[in-house]
Amino acid sequence: METSEVNQVIAAVRSGKGYGSMDPGLVERITRQEIAKGRGFKATVKAVRSVLHQVGGAYLPATPPYAGWLEELKGLPHDPADPVLRAFCREKMQYHASTRERLPVIETFYQQTLGGLGEVESLLDLACGLNPLALPWMPLKPGAQVILCDIFSDMLAFVDAFCVHMGLDGVGFVCDLVEQVPDNPVQAALLLKTIPCLEQLQKGIGSRLLEGINAETLVVTYPAASLGGRNKGMRKTYTDQFAELIEGKPWHVRGLEIGSELVYIVRK
Ligand SMILES: C[S@@+](CC[C@H](N)C(=O)[O-])C[C@H]1O[C@@H](n2cnc3c(N)ncnc32)[C@H](O)[C@@H]1O
Repeated sequence: METSEVNQVIAAVRSGKGYGSMDPGLVERITRQEIAKGRGFKATVKAVRSVLHQVGGAYLPATPPYAGWLEELKGLPHDPADPVLRAFCREKMQYHASTRERLPVIETFYQQTLGGLGEVESLLDLACGLNPLALPWMPLKPGAQVILCDIFSDMLAFVDAFCVHMGLDGVGFVCDLVEQVPDNPVQAALLLKTIPCLEQLQKGIGSRLLEGINAETLVVTYPAASLGGRNKGMRKTYTDQFAELIEGKPWHVRGLEIGSELVYIVRK
């Protein structure tokens, strides 16, 4: 495969709206994969974008106006319980399908999932999307360590700034979880609605993630309905899939359903 061909496809893909801020390693990997299928230039660019759309763009129909959000943030209170700060978070969480779907249960979701841990001192949110805007609802110790990753650099810059605003010891970085599973030792890790999305990129990634994440408690969720709101037997599919993932593992697992999510709390 010619390097110039790879670079040309990457440049064309990244020139499209929303693709420029995606993890370069992920874009290159998908590009190489699609070039290997031997289609023409235009069809290859389209195919690469289609894969990237399925795993990322589909959840974010428009690139959020992060610069404006950062300006707004400057004038907001820092107290996580403040209603003005929370209203800002709620409004912005609407932009990402996953957080939008969780909003109706935001008041109880983190009590039910993290509530038994006391004040959480360190948290890892993998493929976080805009979920760090839910930090004010989480039972965190003031100044807690928060590690965030996803594929969009502009999103990570924003959620990183949000952590700083909240007085948290936050670090956000762009990652491709297929290539690298962060193994930072943490008290709690969130892997929310992400396994089905990553399994589209690589079969078996769910198992590698569960093994590799170095957390005392891991909260794993699956959607109980599709992006369009239809329930196409997803509950059963994902219940079976998760049961297979943890089969034979010496972990303590508790399952529950909160809002539109199947939730598993795994203690390693
Ligand atoms: C279904 S959304 C879940 C977002 C968030 N965890 C939540 O539940 O609010 C899946 C997320 O995975 C991210 N993603 C897709 N492929 C990824 C990859 N290879 N590495 C890291 N994150 C990825 C997407 O950008 C998207 O934000």
